Amino acid sequence: MMGRLNGKVAVVTGAASGIGAATARLFAAEGARVVLADLDVAAGERLSGELADALFCRTDVTQEADVAALVDYAVQSFGRLDCMVNNAGFIGAIGSVRETQLSHWRATMAVLLDGVFLGCKHAARAMVVSGGGTILNTASVAGLRGGFGAHAYTTAKHAVIGLTRSAASELAPLGIRVNAVAPGSVVTPLIESLTGVDSDTLGKLAEQASPLGRAMYAEDIAGAFAYLASDTAAHVTGQVITVDAGVTMAPVVADFHQAEAAFLGPTSLLAQF
Ligand SMILES: NC(=O)c1ccc[n+]([C@@H]2O[C@H](COP(=O)([O-])OP(=O)(O)OC[C@H]3O[C@@H](n4cnc5c(N)ncnc54)[C@H](O)[C@@H]3O)[C@@H](O)[C@H]2O)c1
Repeated sequence: MMGRLNGKVAVVTGAASGIGAATARLFAAEGARVVLADLDVAAGERLSGELADALFCRTDVTQEADVAALVDYAVQSFGRLDCMVNNAGFIGAIGSVRETQLSHWRATMAVLLDGVFLGCKHAARAMVVSGGGTILNTASVAGLRGGFGAHAYTTAKHAVIGLTRSAASELAPLGIRVNAVAPGSVVTPLIESLTGVDSDTLGKLAEQASPLGRAMYAEDIAGAFAYLASDTAAHVTGQVITVDAGVTMAPVVADFHQAEAAFLGPTSLLAQF
């Protein structure tokens, strides 16, 4: 069966869990050969063993030597690199900006920003050799505005979007597309560990918070990555696709309707005309 990613070679970081694991699964199902990268060797090897044409490479995305070796491993194993998904992440430093420790701030940036930068750098190096490719970065709705996450996380995700646009503008003439996906709250181990709430309860809460009435799961984000990695998105670069079940749209709409109701009472704005 022809998959959307048939013949392509992809690397996915943070592939042992959550969004990265779902992306590796979907890419493999769509015909890609995938190198899964993560710090978690046991879970990463377990998943790569389940997939056809998949390998695991233990990688710390904060270490340039690791990321360089990961890209080289993909090229040596599968002959080329078509798609790099820079997805590894964690919540990092939490708490008030008045109390955040510099060491925690830097450790957060090391994973969420340096990791993406290193992935872009070394993927582009390999993609230039084979004439092009696609780099995909996991941002967040916390990269679009304040108030969706901790300070360091929010800052790093804004920077991931900046790097996506900046790298896209340089690499476009080389046939390399660079895009980001900005997920809203996705029910994954990352959110479970942050909140201490089980996935069923998180799913119900997310349904209530979503204008679409839908909770989001890792597979929903993987679908956006598969689109961006495919030739269907051949004309898409420097973009951020927000996949949030309508959450970033909702407060604006809700505020508008609340303000409208408060100002006009039961009369709608349209009734004035
Ligand atoms: N879950 C959400 O609601 C949500 C929302 C928006 C964005 N995101 C982003 O999605 C990405 C994946 O998150 P998730 O929810 O799937 O989390 P997750 O915890 O399920 O998976 C993250 C994976 O990254 C790996 N990782 C962490 N640090 C690493 C490092 N230094 N080197 C290599 N691997 C490392 C972990 O071992 C883990 O397997 C992150 O960038 C996160 O910020 C998540």
